[in-house]
Amino acid sequence: MAQKKTMAGEKRARKIQEESQGKGVHRKPVKLHKVDTRDHDDSVFLSRKVIAQLSFIAVLVGIAAFSVYDVHRQSRVITRLSSPTVITQNASSSPARFWGTYRPQAYFGLKTRSPQSPVVGLMWFTQFKSAEEFAIRHWCEQGDRLPRYGWLAHDGVNFGVQEIVDEDYILKTSFVKRTGGSHGGDWTARIVAEPHYRNRRTPEGEPPPKPATVSLLFYIALDNSGWLKPNIESGILTSVEGYTDALGQFMLKFPTNSRNHEVLYNYYLSSTEGLHVLKGAVMRGLKMAPYKKRKQYVALGGNDPRGSAEPNFIVHQVTVPLPHVMEVTYTSGDGGGGSGEREDREPLLGRTYDDELRQHRDEFDERFERVFRLREKGYDAEHVDFAKAALGNLVGGIGFFYGSSLVQSLANAAPVPYWAAPLYTAVPSRSFFPRGFLWDEGFHNLLVSQWDIDVTKDVLGHWLDLMNADGWIPREQILGPEARSKVPDEFVVQRDTNANPPTLFLPLRYLLDRDDERDYEYLRRVYPRLQAWYGWFNVTQRGDAPGAYRWRGRNATTTHELNPKTLTSGIDDAPRASHPTDDERHVDLRCWMALASGVMADVAEAIGEPAAVYRAEYAYLTDNEALDALHWSDEHAAYCDYGLHTDAVKLKRPRAPPAQPGAPPPPRPDLQRSVAQEPRLQFVNSFGYTSLFPFLLQIVRPDSPKLERVLASVRNESLLWTRYGLRSLAKTAPLYMKRNTEHDPPYWRGSIWININFLAVRALNFYANSDGPYRDTAKEMYTELRRNLVENVFREYQLTGYVWEHYNDETGKGEGSHPFTGWSALIVLIMADSY
Ligand SMILES: *[C@@H]1O[C@H](CO)[C@@H](O)[C@H](O)[C@H]1NC(C)=O
Ligand SMILES: *[C@@H]1O[C@H](CO)[C@@H](O)[C@H](O)[C@H]1NC(C)=O
Ligand SMILES: *[C@@H]1O[C@H](CO)[C@@H](O)[C@H](O)[C@H]1NC(C)=O
Ligand SMILES: *[C@@H]1O[C@H](CO)[C@@H](O)[C@H](O)[C@H]1NC(C)=O
Repeated sequence: MAQKKTMAGEKRARKIQEESQGKGVHRKPVKLHKVDTRDHDDSVFLSRKVIAQLSFIAVLVGIAAFSVYDVHRQSRVITRLSSPTVITQNASSSPARFWGTYRPQAYFGLKTRSPQSPVVGLMWFTQFKSAEEFAIRHWCEQGDRLPRYGWLAHDGVNFGVQEIVDEDYILKTSFVKRTGGSHGGDWTARIVAEPHYRNRRTPEGEPPPKPATVSLLFYIALDNSGWLKPNIESGILTSVEGYTDALGQFMLKFPTNSRNHEVLYNYYLSSTEGLHVLKGAVMRGLKMAPYKKRKQYVALGGNDPRGSAEPNFIVHQVTVPLPHVMEVTYTSGDGGGGSGEREDREPLLGRTYDDELRQHRDEFDERFERVFRLREKGYDAEHVDFAKAALGNLVGGIGFFYGSSLVQSLANAAPVPYWAAPLYTAVPSRSFFPRGFLWDEGFHNLLVSQWDIDVTKDVLGHWLDLMNADGWIPREQILGPEARSKVPDEFVVQRDTNANPPTLFLPLRYLLDRDDERDYEYLRRVYPRLQAWYGWFNVTQRGDAPGAYRWRGRNATTTHELNPKTLTSGIDDAPRASHPTDDERHVDLRCWMALASGVMADVAEAIGEPAAVYRAEYAYLTDNEALDALHWSDEHAAYCDYGLHTDAVKLKRPRAPPAQPGAPPPPRPDLQRSVAQEPRLQFVNSFGYTSLFPFLLQIVRPDSPKLERVLASVRNESLLWTRYGLRSLAKTAPLYMKRNTEHDPPYWRGSIWININFLAVRALNFYANSDGPYRDTAKEMYTELRRNLVENVFREYQLTGYVWEHYNDETGKGEGSHPFTGWSALIVLIMADSY
């Protein structure tokens, strides 16, 4: 994962820019003698004035020439790769997946896979709260402190079932689709709200507490396109008609029951400036209204006070004491829902909805068992439900984003917008990281591909289509106003010097290994892009020594970081050489390149392209002698990074300047890095995930004595082994659980991360099944590690309601952002024993 910050300061970029501009002008000397002077044949000596004029013109020509060159250089970063895109994005290219819950950051919301899609969604709040307690739920926020929420089942196409546990009630949100027509078909959303006295035990004989009165707000909003027309009957909003180019005409209906006096209906017609400020618009529209003559409740006041001649945001509010069931139906104007069969079919409501939902759910359960075989492996119902929820929230958290990144190359003085593009991708965390991250996505799709290979092909295609002419893909994708509003400005800009592990090769390997149904056409489509991507790594991430690789983007002049971070590597603060220089070699990157080379060779071979150059690279990068020569340290008995390094670094607080009499005391200065010993070129003493890559990516030969050493250190409880999984940094490492700055707590310096543990279980499984002297050791460790991980992640889920970003190495407790059903959902594959 990543704190996801971007390095390569703007200042440095600007400096380089100025320098190269200077050079550029000099490099284009203007040839004065070529200026035609025939008209002045009689005057051999040109007057000074003429010379001055000519020089001036020459300089202008030079500047113009440079400007063309410079504009070219500046726009290079935002120039698309010329190969055809993998995805042809339109409704008919995948009608079944056109509508979906593609707004992972909303507790419950749907949109289509099209630019400027309308969105629908849910907000809710509890009535009769004090002003301090009043809170509207809308986007997944850890600050809401919900005891539990997430998709319990979701197939990525037809349906989803979610539970959201609030203080003393529970919302069960589900949707069912009927695909058909050429605009993605129809769907119904249902919200069942029930009392849920999780925190209250009623003593014997006392009446149960009164159920809460809750307002459910279901809205539709447009994104700069189309129109909406509300239908209001006797003061109640009953439906909304609408139109967009991608959807054609449609109808959203709110079945209401005006005879039930327990239920109050309100509505709101508003005009919003953007999808990221919907909640603010609702807040503006709320006022106090009489409730059963005695009380007051919070209600939407019909029309936006700012005027709403042509509303693009319409909200339907239902206020009711629980329990209550709310249904909303969407029908496409083109006959949708079963291509012309709609006349014959019952509306997707009530019993009919129950039936269709049950049918989808049964199919989901049956397919889940067919794919993962957890019951067959002896897991009980709780474990199976947990695994379904982990998969469900990963698949249900897949989003569709549209917009442009902000990027910067060394040629740009300031960030420039990338081209606007769609991205269909899973997200690491619906609450904390609801957007696309390049290296996370490779891990996500190890699981997604086993569930639905078409989704994976679609996701990988979208990512590869984000590649520029150099073969670079920005690693964090913050597209569109909803996504942008969740990220602080300083982290938005993506720099084209920076890589991220090419994990997309992991699911690509899975696509290749399905010999029976390999999609050759797909492989042919992605291949030119893979070549460009590989080539970009091969050229830009090389180290100085032959066969060495080096992550870019570390700060060599840092004064506050204990160890300059390597955000590009994905494992942000995993310790590296204390003093970044060009001499560094990073063992994990070399191993990623070995993986990439092997997959490239196999893809090339599969589609009849020349594979020899990749094959040779793979042979070289997996050659154990070559690897050992660059990265094996006898002293540390481990694979290591190499670079200019010292262990003698500390954070120290400089003495504050003396206080001036009468003035307030000066602020405490920040901790600063202090280096007690000159760094020297050496292997970096820091046993942890980085050291494991030759093992994790199965590059160490099964008969290598180095494997024995690696296994022994992995199994050692003073180093990486815990009852809950492998910790990221050995307890004996100098920076174990150390803060990087006083504002930067340890992240990959001890905690247990599931993505790397997945690779470890997978590698142990590989070595347990390969001939070699360490086979039995690997087998034992495999069994134990697998059990430890599954038991702990499951136990924490039962206890806390969530799957977590990482786990405490001392207690096993889930920590960091949650729910984190990005790569932590790989626990499903570990349970399934499927690698
Ligand atoms: C939409 O996608 C389909 C399938 O890829 C393609 O045949 C069709 O031409 C596309 N339509 C448009 C308008 O791009
Ligand atoms: C590196 O760190 C120094 C000192 O903390 C800071 O001033 C500088 O902006 C950083 N450089 C980059 C490229 O982030
Ligand atoms: C990678 O770069 C090296 C050195 O520049 C080159 O020799 C090699 O052919 C490249 N490999 C591939 C597969 O492009
Ligand atoms: C485990 O590692 C520690 C620290 O390096 C070492 O002292 C100890 O001997 C190791 N234990 C085993 C069983 O190898």
